[in-house]
Amino acid sequence: MDFKRILVTAALPYANGPVHIGHLAGCYLPADIYVRYQRAQKRDIKFVCGSDEHGVPITIRAMKEGITPQDVVDKYNAIIKDSFEQMGISFDIYSRTSNKIHHETSQAFFKKLYDDGLFEEKESEQYYDEEAKVFLADRYILGTCPVCANENAYGDQCEKCGSSLSPEQLINPRSALSKAVPVKKKTKHWYFPLNKYEQWLKEWIVEGKKDEWKANVYGQCKSWLDNGLQPRAMTRDSNWGVSVPLPDAEGKVLYVWFDAPIGYISATKELTPMWSDYWQQEDTKLVHFIGKDNIVFHCIIFPAMLKAHGKYVLPDNVPANEFLNIEGDKVSTSRNWAVWVHEYIKDFPEQQDVLRYVLCANAPETKDNDFTWKDFQDRTNSELVSIFGNFVNRAFVLMHKLCNGKVPKLHQDVLDDADKALIQDIQNAKTNVEADIENYKFRDALYEIIDLARKGNKYMQDKEPWIVAKSLAENPDNQKLIDNCLHLCLQLTANLAILINPFLPYTAKKMCGMMKVVDRMLEWENAGKLNLLNVCYPLKAPELLFRKIEDDEIKAQVEKLHANLVQSQNAAKKMEETQQNATNNADATPDVTQKAEITIDDFMKIDLRVATILHAEKVEKADKLLKLELDLGFEKRTVVSGIAQHHKPEDIIGKQVTVVANLAPRKMKGIESKGMILMAQNNDGRLIFVSPLETADNGSDVK
Ligand code: 2FM
Ligand code: ZN
Repeated sequence: MDFKRILVTAALPYANGPVHIGHLAGCYLPADIYVRYQRAQKRDIKFVCGSDEHGVPITIRAMKEGITPQDVVDKYNAIIKDSFEQMGISFDIYSRTSNKIHHETSQAFFKKLYDDGLFEEKESEQYYDEEAKVFLADRYILGTCPVCANENAYGDQCEKCGSSLSPEQLINPRSALSKAVPVKKKTKHWYFPLNKYEQWLKEWIVEGKKDEWKANVYGQCKSWLDNGLQPRAMTRDSNWGVSVPLPDAEGKVLYVWFDAPIGYISATKELTPMWSDYWQQEDTKLVHFIGKDNIVFHCIIFPAMLKAHGKYVLPDNVPANEFLNIEGDKVSTSRNWAVWVHEYIKDFPEQQDVLRYVLCANAPETKDNDFTWKDFQDRTNSELVSIFGNFVNRAFVLMHKLCNGKVPKLHQDVLDDADKALIQDIQNAKTNVEADIENYKFRDALYEIIDLARKGNKYMQDKEPWIVAKSLAENPDNQKLIDNCLHLCLQLTANLAILINPFLPYTAKKMCGMMKVVDRMLEWENAGKLNLLNVCYPLKAPELLFRKIEDDEIKAQVEKLHANLVQSQNAAKKMEETQQNATNNADATPDVTQKAEITIDDFMKIDLRVATILHAEKVEKADKLLKLELDLGFEKRTVVSGIAQHHKPEDIIGKQVTVVANLAPRKMKGIESKGMILMAQNNDGRLIFVSPLETADNGSDVK
């Protein structure tokens, strides 16, 4: 079918944490390459994305950080949006599912299916927290893992041993909210009868998409369909999400996987008044870029919803990538085993294209792949710097040296086979790159481009214009040979800029600057042409396109990964110990084990300040805790401290103490504690203040 317009969506990331390079490689980078290429083809295309701001992951994060879900999504939406912008991910819109237009759009969608009588209303028993008075999603139920005895396993999974669980399997289940033992209670939900769409899905996917969709995507769909589809609840009991637009649905919200994909529609509405052309005209090509964990939602559930609604186009393709591991280990946000995009940008300023290059060259297109910093260094230094950058640089340097800084003429009379072969290579590269991108084979496309640059280097090396230049005194006609070589190398440089533009847009722009051409030269119709730079046109001095990545830079990154891991393990251990201490009243034994050595940089991360205790009181129902109001000079803060058994509130008011001021806030007994007071634990277990010996100004830095 001939499509008139293309709508590209990239999975809406949960706004419960920053994005890491696995997200980029899995979905956002391939989507951006595809879109930039289609734009260069001057096709009518829109690229939509936004933050997924509902669902359990958001509420869990809020609970962990002791802040509200709204605070969580505001914080991470800003970080994620900025990371994408910095990396050149060129969405036409980056929206949010908390926007009014999205609530309205997803409610209207639900209502249409409801009015058409499509939902089945069913009552079932679900876990309920009688203290907090809420139904509990599986993730909100904690208990002892029946497999490894981890006391903090979740109702759906034990993060220690990786077993997938159901809440019924947990030993001593407790609510993560109130610690109460959950009870089963009846609740009503609206189920979408996926089973009724099974036959249609089989025809559409198994018969229609087998040769079109990637094998990993098709394979997952086939296995879901072979196992048979069941009705699926499209509502949840929660107070965070899009409320169910029905009169008898107090405390119910839309299931996050019902509302999130509709977010693509809402974002398009927000982007353009012509949104319905992109969603409701048959000649739209809809392409969903996602990671492999989202396949069933985009290939089975959402299409069934669209089909049930009746007015929407279905995805033409869903090019999902597999996962990118880091240094041989799975990405884990809880273990902080990840390369965070916002940190990469800070650590490698102006090096966005280098990361784009490595992530595309090593993209997990057909299977899980591994990112290592060594590979990052090798690919940058031996492919980008030594092949691509080197070719462009040499072409410019030699043109300045041997052709007066101007594009030399092409002399047809001395054109030889090597020249003709290079011209053919340029034209073949265009055809191949085009076919690869259209078929979502971005690695192959990138390889073609680097290979073209490699051929350029070989051509130049074989022609040796710097040697030919030595013969000019005897044979001035040889200037024609030099001209031809550099003319073709410069036309090849212009072609490389066009071809690389979807992949490395910052580099392509830099190349345009060096060639003194406008960005319009990058339009795809110019690829394969050999008259992109006018003869006699003076070009700028070359700029280095890429810099080498040094050993110490990657060493620092590997160390950072491991330090993050240790830090998160220590934090988890501390948390466990604090919980343990709060329940146990065991006597302290002197701690003679020394902690591992840290660097001065590790130490400098801790913001230690002097503060005065303004007020102190006991925390209700907690024998160990005191709630303290502290004056830090620049602000007043509440800190909850486990010293109640050692100090009376009235004795400590006015005391100066030392505070760890940049500790992540934590909720204790419902009170948000922002910091920690330093105490020394005596051999008899008593806690003694670590205070300045002389009065210091509140807020002074302890170094
Ligand atoms: O897996 C995720 O991060 C989901 N937030 C993706 C949602 S994609 C779409 F449906 F919105
Ligand atoms: Zn376990």
